[in-house]
Amino acid sequence: MARELTRDITPLAAGTRLPSHRALVTRFGASASTVSRALALLAQRGLVVSRPGAGTFRAAQEPAASSGDTTWQEAALALNPGLADGNPGARRLHSPGLSNTLATPSPGVIDLNSGYAHHSLLPMTALRAALTRAARSPHAWERPPVGGLADLRMWLAEDIGAGLGREDVLVVGGGQAALSTAMRAVAQPGDPVILEAPTYPGTLAAARAAGLRTVSLPLDAHGMRPDYLDDALGRTGARLVVLQPLYQNPTGVSLTEGRARELLAVARSHDAFVLEDDYARHMTHDDGIPPVKPLILLESDGTVIHIRSLTKVTSPNLRIGALAARGPVLERLRTAHMIDTMVVPAPLQHTALEVLTSSAWKRSVARLQTALAQRRRLAVRTVVETLGADVLPDHPRGGYHLWLHLPRGADESEFVSAALARGTALAPGTYFHADQPDVPRVRLSYAAAPTTADLVTGIHRLEGLV
Ligand SMILES: Cc1ncc(COP(=O)(O)O)c(C=O)c1O
Repeated sequence: MARELTRDITPLAAGTRLPSHRALVTRFGASASTVSRALALLAQRGLVVSRPGAGTFRAAQEPAASSGDTTWQEAALALNPGLADGNPGARRLHSPGLSNTLATPSPGVIDLNSGYAHHSLLPMTALRAALTRAARSPHAWERPPVGGLADLRMWLAEDIGAGLGREDVLVVGGGQAALSTAMRAVAQPGDPVILEAPTYPGTLAAARAAGLRTVSLPLDAHGMRPDYLDDALGRTGARLVVLQPLYQNPTGVSLTEGRARELLAVARSHDAFVLEDDYARHMTHDDGIPPVKPLILLESDGTVIHIRSLTKVTSPNLRIGALAARGPVLERLRTAHMIDTMVVPAPLQHTALEVLTSSAWKRSVARLQTALAQRRRLAVRTVVETLGADVLPDHPRGGYHLWLHLPRGADESEFVSAALARGTALAPGTYFHADQPDVPRVRLSYAAAPTTADLVTGIHRLEGLV
């Protein structure tokens, strides 16, 4: 299919839109995933570009003349359908959801999709100053310990709380790396892992890349249900559950302390680890109700592996996160981290320490929280005015996103494509599910738009689409 498409597409003018996915499925009599793989191959070769929600287009540049015939790689990488099937522990490197949230929006498009706040909301001045100070340090380029600089580990341990010491904390390269490292450290390919449904696409991607079998449990107003968890752990024998305690991405749901304690007791009774992705701890809005405590504060026998990241409140470039745990699992985590990364670069760790210990730190977090609260109120009001109140049953008091409920029967991918055609980028709900969801949902992020006026314009462009 890739060969035939290459022949057809090569003569086309740059920017020409390719036939739709559906049309290619019909033409080749192939499955949608086979068509996706063929198009991914052409994208790798630089022949086509895919714009999520808009379609696939002839790329502007000619594929590099120096590249020879690389079709042999299709067999070597098992890109051909069938070659990779039948292995329950196959590691799958496939995440359209993560690619979508990291895509750079085209000029004129308002970004209501990205998971990172616009740089005007982040402490850019403090980061620049910290980088300068770190660069002047005589220790900036010395090799740091595998687990991270002692002072940074101490800062992270105190930030998490729970009486943790620096020996309980590893410095890793952000939350995404922490998810990958932890999944590979505690589970074997082919093992089941219990996930929230829906959940963050990077969690799904990390589980697939580790060769884990995802078992997704639906959430209620307080998160994962202990009875469902008990049943799933008993049925599958899983030893790993991934939970976001606070302002879950994408639903916005938070655990209550009672629910958190029940879930921990269930996990403990099955000897399962809880991987706590506490990604939103610093994104509680200043008008929010007090957030549930981190799960690692609610137990002491090593059930929880806690993830904390600095990227959301500093910069997506300050790829510093923490893995905190008690007991022998910490050595496993440390070894997995070392095999992958060796060490997180010392200049970055020194920069993080400079920022975290600067007088600007607390102020900058408070400023971000105030701005996010203001944006959330504005986004809620504008969404309700533009699309109706039914679309937004929940208004989470933290995080950076809203989970829009489209009416039953609506087509979320058509909604997202139509929004993009009008100049607003959103994330379709399907990216947050391991399997095709049966209800149409869309995630709207209110943090990434350059200004509040852009946020309002971006939402107004959705008028009439529901
Ligand atoms: C729930 C959740 N976990 C983890 C991450 C990873 O963040 P980072 O790798 O930037 O720390 C994200 C980013 O969007 C997220 O939303």
